[in-house]
Amino acid sequence: MKSPIKTPFGFHSTADEVIQGIDLTSKRAIVTGGSSGIGIDTARVLAGAGAEVTLAVRSIDAGRRVAAELQALTGNPKVLVAPLDLSDQASITTFVANWQGPLHVLINNAGVMALPELAKTPQGWEMQFATNFLGHFALTVGLQAALESAGGARIVSVSSSGHLIAPVVFDDLHFNFLPYDPFVAYGQSKSACALMAVEATRRWASRGIYANALNPGAIATNLQKHTGGLKTPAERRKTTAQGAATSILLATSPMLEGVGGRYFEDCNEAETVARRPSDYRGVAPYALDPASAERLWDTAQKLIA
Ligand SMILES: NC(=O)c1ccc[n+]([C@@H]2O[C@H](COP(=O)([O-])OP(=O)(O)OC[C@H]3O[C@@H](n4cnc5c(N)ncnc54)[C@H](OP(=O)(O)O)[C@@H]3O)[C@@H](O)[C@H]2O)c1
Repeated sequence: MKSPIKTPFGFHSTADEVIQGIDLTSKRAIVTGGSSGIGIDTARVLAGAGAEVTLAVRSIDAGRRVAAELQALTGNPKVLVAPLDLSDQASITTFVANWQGPLHVLINNAGVMALPELAKTPQGWEMQFATNFLGHFALTVGLQAALESAGGARIVSVSSSGHLIAPVVFDDLHFNFLPYDPFVAYGQSKSACALMAVEATRRWASRGIYANALNPGAIATNLQKHTGGLKTPAERRKTTAQGAATSILLATSPMLEGVGGRYFEDCNEAETVARRPSDYRGVAPYALDPASAERLWDTAQKLIA
């Protein structure tokens, strides 16, 4: 039994506090969805610590606007923009083909939540599973050599407390039989994101690549555009800088050196829970199960082949 990782940071910590004293000069990072919400603050503090940061975004215009703001704010000219649509495998292939050189930090941050109607990609993949998980899976696998050549790389998988709503339903990943529910689909995709960190670490730790997953907390962003806004009570909400803190901890903290396959929230490793608590804290065992993680990886590999 691994003991849970505890850090001096917590619910209120900001990404700026977490990265204090860490120098990322000569490190290279990708933040998917880096032009909105939590992604902006994630990219901002990475750039502020000296990293070269690529915003992997589906709107190049939005990406350029944010990159210019972050360059001005941090004084770091190395905030770059590259097109990436995670629901489109051809777009991912192009992104990967254009990537040159090592990659030290991959932050799989982009996501969609609770699409009101069942939507599918041309392959017949349910859209939240396709975007939040399969897209990041293809990206991560595609960038494996770049991660390996960094000589110590971290993958950060932005999951959600929404994972507590549903495990990965292997027998019906794309809602061909199950009645579609926006949050069950979101929950499944976020359980898959957590499992990806487990299996990536099992496969790649020996090559210096470690992956962890996290719940950023409740932050009012564009993510809630299909649900009429954030429902969380004011005292449990975070700012985007607080929402980015756990991603930054996993991506950069020396305390996480050689740690992988775990799930964090509020900058600490989450407790495993046996049922969904009313406050939606903790991690479900199915989101960390090694057998499911391996099965999901094999399933995903076949889907994107
Ligand atoms: N906010 C919360 O309370 C909360 C809670 C738990 C987990 N999370 C997770 O945190 C992450 C960041 O969310 P956020 O709150 O910052 O939301 P956000 O402001 O809506 O940002 C999501 C980002 O994902 C991008 N994206 C969506 N679909 C994409 C696609 N097909 N290809 C490429 N990029 C795509 C969006 O691009 P566009 O700008 O072009 O739409 C946007 O940049 C998500 O994974 C979310 O599930 C958030």
